[in-house]
Amino acid sequence: MALPKQFTGKLALPVVSAPMFLASTPQMVVASCIEGIIGTFPAANQRTSEGLERWVIDIKQSLIAYEIASGKQAAPFGVNVIVHKTNPRVKADLALLVKHKVPLLITSLGAVSDVVDAVHSYGGVVFHDVINARHGRKAMQAGVDGLIAVAAGAGGHAGTLHPFALIQELRQFFDKTIILSGAISTGAEIAAALCLGADLAYMGTRFLATQECQIANEYKQLLIESSAEDIIYTNAISGIPASFVKKSIENAGYDLNNLPIPDGFDIGAEMSDDNKHHENATVTAKPWKDIWSAGQGVSAIKHVISIKELINQLSEEFELAMLKVKVKS
Ligand SMILES: Cc1cc2nc3c(=O)[nH]c(=O)nc-3n(C[C@H](O)[C@H](O)[C@H](O)COP(=O)(O)O)c2cc1C
Repeated sequence: MALPKQFTGKLALPVVSAPMFLASTPQMVVASCIEGIIGTFPAANQRTSEGLERWVIDIKQSLIAYEIASGKQAAPFGVNVIVHKTNPRVKADLALLVKHKVPLLITSLGAVSDVVDAVHSYGGVVFHDVINARHGRKAMQAGVDGLIAVAAGAGGHAGTLHPFALIQELRQFFDKTIILSGAISTGAEIAAALCLGADLAYMGTRFLATQECQIANEYKQLLIESSAEDIIYTNAISGIPASFVKKSIENAGYDLNNLPIPDGFDIGAEMSDDNKHHENATVTAKPWKDIWSAGQGVSAIKHVISIKELINQLSEEFELAMLKVKVKS
């Protein structure tokens, strides 16, 4: 149980600002790293591999400039790649992330030992998303440095297992870094993740309601108004199960009691401008762009604040929660 040695001593708070399709920006990544947490974004947030390369160069330059100006060290950053046969950019994106020695690569769906070897060759780290122990074992065999335990209630393509059960099962065979994902929205919940045996907390939804996040203001407002029961977990929208805000599904013209039957997961289609995702769709709203994802931890969102303010708040809540645990034990 530990952080990868490359990350030891570089974090002010044990948190990853998780990659979010169409939401994470280089500004979010830089603001997160400067405040001492790991900032990430999905490669798919740039339309082309060339655009992705520009973002990576910009982020590296901004962090170096910060370190020179402040004399402080920024936290490492990461990029998420969905390793799936329907993602046409996998090869090109991976090649340039290796070329630029990105400190952290986050792989979703396919855990590939070639990718792990390529990232290890320059001293980088690979974390892989898993929703159960079977996926965890496969990823371990591929040599990953960390397992992202995506539990029930997470935003995006969530899992179904309770975090207690998922962490416990993964810890029975995996002694490297475990990152807990799913409905972690406060500093007390970060502390709870560590108490469970995780090394890092992976936070998505909470970072949607920040000034640096590029989603529509209406999306941010809906998050402020929503609570856990306003979230639905369904495969009807994205083809594989994911969490969405019910109201955004209704606003897109769907009947919540009669959602379409999915026709499979196609990351290529989700990344494209083509509006019609389902063959049998009667509405043309795009998942993620028009139909908005969030996890069950949405209730913690009361205002839109800057990433700096959010991390300060999380740090205070975290310290207090750790103290409470000590006092009670
Ligand atoms: C709007 C949105 C988009 C997401 N897009 C991605 C993605 O592109 N790649 C990925 O690995 N995870 C994605 N996720 C999942 C997050 O990385 C993370 O696992 C999740 O948000 C954590 O749960 P939480 O939202 O309850 O904090 C997304 C989540 C949200 C809310």
